[in-house]
Amino acid sequence: MARTITVIPGDGIGPEVTDATLEVLNAAGADLEYDTQLAGLTALKEARNPLPQATMDSAERTRVILKGPLTTPSGSGFRSINVQLRKVFDLYANVRPARTIQPGGRYEDIDLVLIRENTEGLYVGVEHYIGMQGDPRAAAESVMIVTRFGAERILRYAFEYARSRGRKKVTLAHKANILKYTQGLFLEVAEEVAKDFPDIESEDRIIDATAMQLVLDPYRFDVLVMENMFGDILSDLMAGLVGGLGFAPAGNIGTDAAMFEAVHGSAPDIAGQGVANPTALLLSACLMLEHLGDDETSTRIRSAIDTVVLAGKVRTVDMGGDAGTADYTRALVEAL
Ligand code: NAI
Ligand code: MG
Repeated sequence: MARTITVIPGDGIGPEVTDATLEVLNAAGADLEYDTQLAGLTALKEARNPLPQATMDSAERTRVILKGPLTTPSGSGFRSINVQLRKVFDLYANVRPARTIQPGGRYEDIDLVLIRENTEGLYVGVEHYIGMQGDPRAAAESVMIVTRFGAERILRYAFEYARSRGRKKVTLAHKANILKYTQGLFLEVAEEVAKDFPDIESEDRIIDATAMQLVLDPYRFDVLVMENMFGDILSDLMAGLVGGLGFAPAGNIGTDAAMFEAVHGSAPDIAGQGVANPTALLLSACLMLEHLGDDETSTRIRSAIDTVVLAGKVRTVDMGGDAGTADYTRALVEAL
């Protein structure tokens, strides 16, 4: 029986890359049914709520979400719907693989996985202004929260992930030299968890040095695990190592729900032009298929992507080509 998933096309280029992704999933024969729902700016306009109840109900039922990017206003305005969805469904592990598909970039054969803690850290949104001398916004404060429970489950996830995928090494990137309590606790827990995984090499590195090393010599890494904001920043850096955001997928995994989305945002600069690269969302859909136990369909889609990108005739603009989203999608369907 077909598995029903919740699909949120989202904002900006979201609907374009979502259409392309569903077209490829269908052509590959994925045994899925789609319950399409609104969220983000589109939902605010159409349903007067950036996260409508119907969307929550659908996700509650299906427990698997394929989501396009959602526009989040900076500064004032509604809070990030992405962050809310991750929180409500306790999607604590954000898994972001970076793998070279298109040759000729800065590096060849990159194959890294970043595992980002998704529910704690500096992104918990515990922030406030402090008024002084008549200025209600004289200062602002954010709180970084690390719990032993949260640190342990993400670290265990990273080591289990490495073990189950035949990977060799886990690197914890942290800032325990300066943030002695929050990051110190993360490091302390990492040292304990590592003892349960003697078969996996483990190391810890300061986050800023890790950023430099990733650019100089990415091959020295394998699986990386870190706090929420550090992971947000370094996963974009890692996307840059493999040709940019067009190739960077993500899975947000919890104990009984999961959400799959591209790392990139709604790209308002190219929205509606039919030029967006749908590969990142499609690779996210592959992570979803693997999560649902359908490795076979995922592998077929992955090899179709490799075939089309390697052949080089039909590439989207960000890949250096001149194909639109629809041409590229058609080429993928033909390759299938
Ligand atoms: P962005 O990722 O949307 O765009 C950055 C640059 O990459 C732009 O030049 C864009 O054209 C390009 N780009 C992104 N995806 C592409 C694709 N698939 N094909 C070709 N080019 C692509 O980041 P930006 O502009 O900082 O954010 C725009 C909005 O997206 C903001 O409201 C932000 O909050 C939101 N956002 C949402 C995310 C999510 O829903 N998970 C993640 C990141 C940002
Ligand atoms: Mg980000």
